[in-house]
This record gives sequence, C-alpha cells and structure tokens, in this order.
Amino acid sequence: MAGTYFLTTAIDYVNGAPHLGHAYEKVLADFFARHQKSLERDVLFLTGVDEHGQKVQQSAQKEGIDPQAFTDRMSRFFVDQHKSLGIESSCFVRTTNENHKNVVREWLKTLHDKGEIFFQEHEGYYSVRQEQFVTEKEKVDGKWPEIYGEVELRKEPNYYFRLEPYRERLLKFIDENPEWIVPAFRRNELLGALKEPLNDLCISRPKSRLAWGIPLPFDEEYVTFVWFDALTNYYSFASTKGTLRWPPDLQTIGKDILIPAHGVYWPIMLMALGLELPKHLLVHGWWMLDKDKMSKSKGTIVYTAPYVEKYGADALRYFLLREMVMGQDADFSDERFESRYGPELANNLGNLVNRTLSMIQKYRDGVVPNYDGFHLLPEDADLRSDSFVEEYRAAVDQFAPHLALQAIMKFSQRANQYIQETEPFKLNKDPEKAKRLNVVLGLLAETVRRLSVLIQAALPFTAEKIRAQLQLLPGPVRLEEALFGNSLKGHTIGKPEPLFPRLEEKLPAAS
Ligand code: MSP
Repeated sequence: MAGTYFLTTAIDYVNGAPHLGHAYEKVLADFFARHQKSLERDVLFLTGVDEHGQKVQQSAQKEGIDPQAFTDRMSRFFVDQHKSLGIESSCFVRTTNENHKNVVREWLKTLHDKGEIFFQEHEGYYSVRQEQFVTEKEKVDGKWPEIYGEVELRKEPNYYFRLEPYRERLLKFIDENPEWIVPAFRRNELLGALKEPLNDLCISRPKSRLAWGIPLPFDEEYVTFVWFDALTNYYSFASTKGTLRWPPDLQTIGKDILIPAHGVYWPIMLMALGLELPKHLLVHGWWMLDKDKMSKSKGTIVYTAPYVEKYGADALRYFLLREMVMGQDADFSDERFESRYGPELANNLGNLVNRTLSMIQKYRDGVVPNYDGFHLLPEDADLRSDSFVEEYRAAVDQFAPHLALQAIMKFSQRANQYIQETEPFKLNKDPEKAKRLNVVLGLLAETVRRLSVLIQAALPFTAEKIRAQLQLLPGPVRLEEALFGNSLKGHTIGKPEPLFPRLEEKLPAAS
C-alpha cells in the first residue's frame, strides 16, 4: 500500500430529506476517495448525518414519535441517496452512535478540567433558526441577515469555550500553511474574520429547553450544543480496525460552514486538545436555482432521484463535478444538465467507445490488432502520449475535478477527431492499407481502455461498463494503468452497447 488517506464530508442535518446540495459534497468526496484508492492508498472516507438538535426534537414531537425513531427513518434517506449515487464511504457516521457520544463527553471533560470551558450567565440576541446567540457584528446594513431568521433577546446561564486565547496561534498556522484552505479566496475571508477578537463559544443548552443531545459530563442538566457534538465526529469515527487515523488529509465542506465552524471553532478545539489540524479544508460553493439558494419554503429544492432514474447516476455525478468550478457557486438547470449530457457524455465519450468497438467488430472480427513495430505517423502522437493523464492528475492534485474532467473530455475529443482524420472506413476498403488500419484501430482501442481508467473516480459505473464491453476483468484498477501501452493486442472484445442513450430514444422506455 502506498500510504493512507483520510477524508471527510460535513455531516448533514436530518430535519429534511437530502437534496442535490447534500449529494454534491458527497460525490465530490467520493471522487477524491476513489482517486486515492487508484493510487493504492488505504482510504478512510467518512460521511453521514448530524442527528441531534432542536429541529429534530421539534419534528419528532410534531409527529408524536421518539426523536431516535425520527432520525432512524430520516437517516435512511441519506443512506439511500448515497447508494443511488455510488458513494462508497468507509463508514456512515451517525452522531447518535454510543462511541461518538463517549468521545464528545471525554473531550468536554478534558477541556473543562483544563479550564477552557467555563459557566456563565449570558444575555444576548438569539437566532432561533440557527440555534445560536448572535452579536451586533453579524448585522448587515443594520439588519440580521435572512439566514438567522427570527432574532430575540434571551437570558440564560450556559457553558462557554474560550476561543480568543488561540486566535494568534490560528493566524500563525494559516500564515504558515497557505494551502490549508482551498480555494485561496476563502482563506482570505477567514483571515478577515480573524482580525477581531473572538467571542466565547456557547457549547451547551439547558436540558429543559433541549433534551435531544449529549449530556455534559460535568453537568447533567445541560446537553452539548451543535458544534462540539457535530465536529467531534471527524475524530470519533476516525479509526479503522482499532487504529486511529489522525489528522484528516482532506475535509470537504460548504462555504456556509467555513466561518466560524470549520475555520475557527474546529481548529481551536483541536489546538486546545493538543491534536493536529486537518491538512486541507476544501470549501465548495452552493448549487443555486435561478441564482438563488435552493429553499424548501420557496419550493425550489432539486432532488437527485429523478435525474438518476432518467439519466443514470454517472450522468449526475459528471454534471455535478464538471459544471461547478471548484469554490464557486453554480446554477442548476435542466438545460445546463442536457448541454453536458448530450455533447460531452453521449456524443463525445459514448460515441467514441461505440464507434471504436463497432469498427473492431466489423473490420477485425472483434480482435484488437497489434500496432507494435508498425510505421507510426505524426497524427498518431497524441493518442500515444501521456499528456492528458498528466493534465488529469495535476488537476486532481489541485483539487479541481472540473479541470480533471475537462482533460478527460479533451482526450476523448482528440480520439474522435483522429477517426475523422484517419478515416478507418476508407482504409478498410483498400487491402494495401491493412497495416495502417491495424495501427488506427489498435490505438483507438487502447485509448478507450485508458479512458475507462481515467473516468473511474468520476464515473465508476461507466468505467465498469466499458471494461465489460472490452471483455476485461472488472475494476477498479490502478491509475497507472491509464498510461500508454499496448496491452490489448490480440485481445477479443465484446459488442458495443450505448453508454449514454440519447434522451429522445430513452424517454418512451422511461415512461
Ligand atoms: N450539520 C451541519 C454540518 C456539520 S459538519 C461537522 C450542516 N448540515 S447541512 O445539512 O445544513 O449541510 C451539510 C453540507 O451540505 C454543508 O457542507 C453545506 O454547505 C452543504 N449544502 C447544503 N446545501 C447546499 C447547496 N445548495 N449546495 C451545495 N452544498 C450545500 O451544516
């Protein structure tokens, strides 16, 4: 094994059904997890759900059921969504897990014993929607931003965690680790937020007000509030076969939970506990609908199931990874979806595989010809080159899946163009050109094989379909196998089947 790799996603609230926004982050992490596996790393990939809190308690109450029963039912929707999209995590995190609860209590006890957590009466503004105290600083143009919902004055004694003593250390860490936050503009936003002294973080709620949470180890009248419960999951589930993996190599999160949760609370919690910080925080943007955040109240939520049903899981995975420029917001629409599905998946990649396999069937009885030792022409150079593989790897290393997929499509496009240039259908008519046709078909078969390796992380189902059509053993295989070779010579392939059916063909079957 070439080392280990540990990555996580945010864990989702279970008070609503999972939508496209939740799916995106999981697909993104799954892409990196599969990529790391193809580099032969022993991967630990955590994702799951955040099950405690007021909203779950309220929803369960409304239905007259136990919060555990409510969250058991809701969690299944997330598990099902992951399954439908081919998200293969190592472990599905649930914060109602007993071991997790114990770790949260241990952490709190350690910090309380060290005097980092203290008790205090507090009067201030409280956002009901965000379940947290807010300060005047959060106001924009004199008003509370919409995300806070109703804001009221409240007085309540609670437990607090000191943040300010760690601010300078955190600033120094960010300065010394410029790649800690990706993309860089998010890092600047965080640096901006760290210019002012930090308020203490309220970490508890009285049980009388919130019963659905983890009781504090030093005061059973209180439960742990949100972030100390949620963020701790990254550590409490970080073991494989009894061995702790720490720190995470990569944590994927949305832009809404960078400041303050993952950019301030999380590193300071770890510093206070004497634990190493994660190596990278990858901060993605939001999927929007008509330039607006998807919202349940406006009825503008996009769910994944209809797209998976109509186009297949890989088509949705492809769209999500290709369309969103890492770090930026992206607009979701059926037109945008189809503009990628048709030209890129069906006409470019799908068509190349189909044409290549059909020609080998027709002209060479399904046997891939050898091209070793034959005269090669300058126009063959691109298909023999590893430059597209290098471009792909460099993009993944920069955490830019959209550029990685662009490199794949360029490779496929180049191969389609090669068919136009070399005209194998004409070569086949001239017996003197048989050797040249061998070179062309051999190189095309090799390109299809290499593409099946390159797409593994993004399009795992399609990769397997191509391997099956080439009559190769099922994958996944090492990324190294995407390098140029001549491994298919003399190999008998199967019949081509459309990978991405054209939509007008598919609709009657789907109805
Ligand atoms: N439970 C907290 C996170 C705790 S992590 C220790 C939470 N949950 S959430 O369900 O509201 O969001 C989970 C993730 O989904 C976040 O990273 C968030 O950014 C992401 N998304 C939710 N809606 C989104 C879009 N419309 N687009 C992209 N991702 C967004 O926050």
